[in-house]
Amino acid sequence: MMNSVLQGFSKLSRKEKIEKLLDAYHLPSDFPNRLASYRHAAQQDLFDDFSENTLSNYFLPFGVAPNFRIDDQWYVVPMVVEESSVVAAASRAASFWAKNGGFKTTIHGTLKKGHIWFKWNGPGKSLNALSQKLNQTLLDAVAPITANMEKRGGGIKEISIIPLPDQPSIYQLEVLFETADSMGANFINSCLEEMKEPLKKFFHSHDALKQYGEMEIIMAILSNFTTECLVTTKVECPISALKPFAANLSTEQFAEKFKLAMDIAGWDTSRAVTHNKGIFNGTDAVVIATGNDFRAVEAAGHAWAARGGQYRSLSKCNISADNMFRMELTMPMALGTVGGLTRLHPLAKLAIEMLGNPSARKLMSIAASAGLANNFSAVASLVTTGIQKGHMKLHLSNLLNTEEASQEEKSAAEQYFQNKTVSAKAVKDFLINRRQQINS
Ligand code: MEV
Repeated sequence: MMNSVLQGFSKLSRKEKIEKLLDAYHLPSDFPNRLASYRHAAQQDLFDDFSENTLSNYFLPFGVAPNFRIDDQWYVVPMVVEESSVVAAASRAASFWAKNGGFKTTIHGTLKKGHIWFKWNGPGKSLNALSQKLNQTLLDAVAPITANMEKRGGGIKEISIIPLPDQPSIYQLEVLFETADSMGANFINSCLEEMKEPLKKFFHSHDALKQYGEMEIIMAILSNFTTECLVTTKVECPISALKPFAANLSTEQFAEKFKLAMDIAGWDTSRAVTHNKGIFNGTDAVVIATGNDFRAVEAAGHAWAARGGQYRSLSKCNISADNMFRMELTMPMALGTVGGLTRLHPLAKLAIEMLGNPSARKLMSIAASAGLANNFSAVASLVTTGIQKGHMKLHLSNLLNTEEASQEEKSAAEQYFQNKTVSAKAVKDFLINRRQQINS
């Protein structure tokens, strides 16, 4: 068993890596075969290059939720998610809202920001007189990088220097970027890194700044807190239209209970986290399917949920005096439909084509609407039947597959378990009894 660091592991071939790992760790003896069985026959080189030390591929379901009507365009929304019920819930909510006007979205902005952090003992106001000159110096320095982005309608929109509150001598140079249809992480980080040297030089070559001593650059990096890249998606219907989700409640009782559940997620952090997780069930599934960075979208979403000092729900519900039920979700959403993995990963490319090659703005609307669809379905289940009913249907299907049930046995089991508790033992017993009956 290994008791020292594996040197030069990344330089080994895949085969050598596997041999090395078998030597060094207690791994299953069929480790190489199991890895090999999930490699892609034709395009493995492509997948290998997405990351490092790739040994195989990790499969997740690529599902679809049809009937999404968003800003009066119809979509079949690709969703990559491992959790049962999420795609079914999104699909059910999508068809319901399609019949009730669909999702209406607003993009509040698409700016992204990045920072060069630096240490300097001078007063912020001594920079005012030089700020225009500094900005031009920095813009000139990155002109070769921004030229292409400018042709696509993007580029640098604003540069400012902001002292960090309560931290004397720590500053951020904040740069606002428009990145057109790309998520823009590489573009932003390249610009910021290119600006570091000229920024430093500027401080060292102006006496008005130099008199306060050395300026030291700490780091340059984009911010994933994309508060200027925001989308709102909304749905509304008369309360009387909510019948399909009201179960044994009247539509008025359902709407009131639903709103209360939404309000609880606005008041209480423990509930808000689960509530928002339900939103990300839908949003992440679209973000992943389209080859976007779900960690970035999640991080921004959660920080946005906590922007007032307490973590709260991202969505809210309102019932108006004219008996209209309204629900809306606002969240930051930095997405791209070009660049990154979006056109490189064959299924991300397909997902984007399925959506009609949308702009980044449209994809923001789609991913947020998927989030709202899942949120609506989840809360509707919670205030009526509970979520386990839906889960159990899929649980039953998984158990039947494990037992290698035939199609005919599956249909019989679905009937039988309609009003019985599903468990691994109950499913096994059902199949044994049925097979015995048929054979006798
Ligand atoms: C499960 O993946 C998501 C839910 O817990 C969301 C919610 O509670 O609102 C059902």
